[in-house]
Amino acid sequence: MKRMKDVMRSVLLLLAVLWPCLNLQAADRPEKSVLNVQTDDLSLVLGTASDSSLMFHYFGPRLADVSPFRNKQTYRRADYGTDDPAYAAAGGRNLLYPALRMTHADGNLNTELIYVGATTTDSSDPNVTETTVLLRDRFYPLEVKLIFRTYARENVITERVEITNHEKKTVVLHHYYSAFLPVKAQKYYLNHFHGAWAQEMTLEETLLTHGIKSVESRKGVRTTHHENPSFLLALDRPMDENYGEVIGGALAWSGNYRLNFEMNESNELYISAGINPYASEYRLSPGESFRTPEMVFTYSCEGAGGVTRNLHDWARNYQVYDAQTIRPTLLNSWEGAYFDFDEKTLTDMIDDAAEMGLEMFVLDDGWFGNKYPRNDAKGGLGDWEVNHAKLPRGIGYLADYAVSKGLRFGIWIEPEMVNPRSELAERHPDWIVRSKGGTATTIRSQWLLDLTNPEVQDFVFGVFDGVMQQSPNITYIKWDANRHVENVGSEYLPDDQQERFWVDYIQGLYSVYERIRAKYPRVIVQACSSGGGRVDYGALKYHQEVWTSDNTDALSRVYIQYGTNLIYPALVTGAHVSASPNHQTGNVMPLKFRFDLAMSGRLGMELQPRQMSEQEREMAKGAIADYKRIRDLVMFGDLYRIESPYAGTGYYSLMYVSKDKKRAVAYGYCLQYQGRTVTPRFRLRGLDPEKRYRITELNTRKSSFWGNGKLFGGDYLIREGINPKLQKCGESAVFLIEEVE
Ligand code: DGJ
Repeated sequence: MKRMKDVMRSVLLLLAVLWPCLNLQAADRPEKSVLNVQTDDLSLVLGTASDSSLMFHYFGPRLADVSPFRNKQTYRRADYGTDDPAYAAAGGRNLLYPALRMTHADGNLNTELIYVGATTTDSSDPNVTETTVLLRDRFYPLEVKLIFRTYARENVITERVEITNHEKKTVVLHHYYSAFLPVKAQKYYLNHFHGAWAQEMTLEETLLTHGIKSVESRKGVRTTHHENPSFLLALDRPMDENYGEVIGGALAWSGNYRLNFEMNESNELYISAGINPYASEYRLSPGESFRTPEMVFTYSCEGAGGVTRNLHDWARNYQVYDAQTIRPTLLNSWEGAYFDFDEKTLTDMIDDAAEMGLEMFVLDDGWFGNKYPRNDAKGGLGDWEVNHAKLPRGIGYLADYAVSKGLRFGIWIEPEMVNPRSELAERHPDWIVRSKGGTATTIRSQWLLDLTNPEVQDFVFGVFDGVMQQSPNITYIKWDANRHVENVGSEYLPDDQQERFWVDYIQGLYSVYERIRAKYPRVIVQACSSGGGRVDYGALKYHQEVWTSDNTDALSRVYIQYGTNLIYPALVTGAHVSASPNHQTGNVMPLKFRFDLAMSGRLGMELQPRQMSEQEREMAKGAIADYKRIRDLVMFGDLYRIESPYAGTGYYSLMYVSKDKKRAVAYGYCLQYQGRTVTPRFRLRGLDPEKRYRITELNTRKSSFWGNGKLFGGDYLIREGINPKLQKCGESAVFLIEEVE
């Protein structure tokens, strides 16, 4: 028997060694072929080593001739580890943090990947090319595909991995990252995001030292409050807005993620990014494949600004759902009414929204539940029929009312969650996420439904579908998710597969989204998760926008929106004007400042209009009308950040420029008292120095700028800049800049 096993093993070994020779495309042989994955301005170069393993060579500005990599010497001792792998696997000589770590069917912990071949497919879009590199374990029939997609004009390269088990028995995946990227520089300044509820996307720069720094979430749901699966890595020097080399990255995944930055003894940095391996062993049966989410990379030598613009272009052209359409302005009922409303409260709000020129009314939480009326956060969640006491004529009546006033109508749901005090929880205790035999913990008085279970997926789809059936006039859904995973456990998953929960939950969610999009391609769906808890490119594939933060205080929003828009385009960032002091921070900010800031995202309002004075309502009308003049620039223009709120000058300034450079909108905000002598100098960017422009200040009767209404050369605006008189905290200005032929 033992002899038989040995013979089998030798045959397998021989087959594995011969495999690459049998399968390689003729053009790629002999030894040391080089693969150049490229966009208009970038190259990512991989190549084979003499032992057939696939190595990483280069990522950066495009190279015309990559042939020198065939013979390049790295002077590393061959008996001391290897050169940089294209995708580090645990096993053999690799000691880097592995992107792939697994246990083979026979218990072997080593995986050694060798190159088999590569194919390139052009899509129907000439801008997009997909290169699939097939790797195989040297000794086992285990296949790994590295799939690179290039977006030529946007200079974005995405990577994902597909692992297929051709072994006789189940293999166990421990690490199955989407991408692995070695980087070489003198120093590495990692810019990443941290925060909390109401403080999302706070930017932090860290000089990386030897060892590993990770950015991650282990919360399962509501994963982006504390960190975000994205980064900007400045090479050699601290990140600058306009100069220097910066690599940008973002993972398109809404569940647990981990981005590792490992600096080793040769001062090289290794980025691995993907699903967090934390308690997430994934078993692959024979013949089964696992596909990772996509990791998105870009690079610019024009600083953070270049990275942002590449990502925004890619996101709008390829990732964000329905990104080519103008998003409507809206009034959301939450901070104006909370749970405390009846039909009249809402029809009054609709009247007021229409009168101020807004285009949609969104009914937030509190409209459903009868046995357990949703009059606070403690009951009713899960019971998605309209509350008859509050809304006797139903949702249809309200939606029709909104339409009769010229508005569109939207409504809030939170279909992944359930209150213990609900009919749903009474009916389906088996659908609740909790440890086996244990009790489920509540967060905001609610439990989480187990989306790994297809019955729950059907239910969640049914909630959306059912709500949509209440009126043909519903054109917007706010999809909320107000807790994360605790006390993990699924009654649906088998005992030995509980670790799949983290992956299967999100895949379950995505399959629900797919069904929704197949049936409701046009409805706007906002991703909200206690504010900015689901801000990632995985969610944005199905959503038009996110609720950026529950914190609507304009001063806090400066930082939240600045951070969010470093990675995600303004088109997706819901930005609402609320009462002042607002309900989160207590800061008092002028209405003009609040509007001016919200006008740099997708403008909305979230307050009780009846509490506004006549004068304030007039001002709101003017601001909303002005926003409509510039929102195409906000949504589709190139973002240039002029002054960072982190720079310590007490100013924040940004602008959006149309692709043809004929129109732009520039914003300036004063964040602290500047004394009598200091005024800002906002040197504009992105304009054409040869063109002449007229500057018109918006949203004011009394301009802060001596040049209001005057003509300027583009070169003046770029080199000298504008100096509006903004000196007190809360002063702000918005300028429309238009080419004059
Ligand atoms: C949390 C959201 O972020 C808020 O905007 C609001 O929709 C509440 N949930 C409603 O419960």
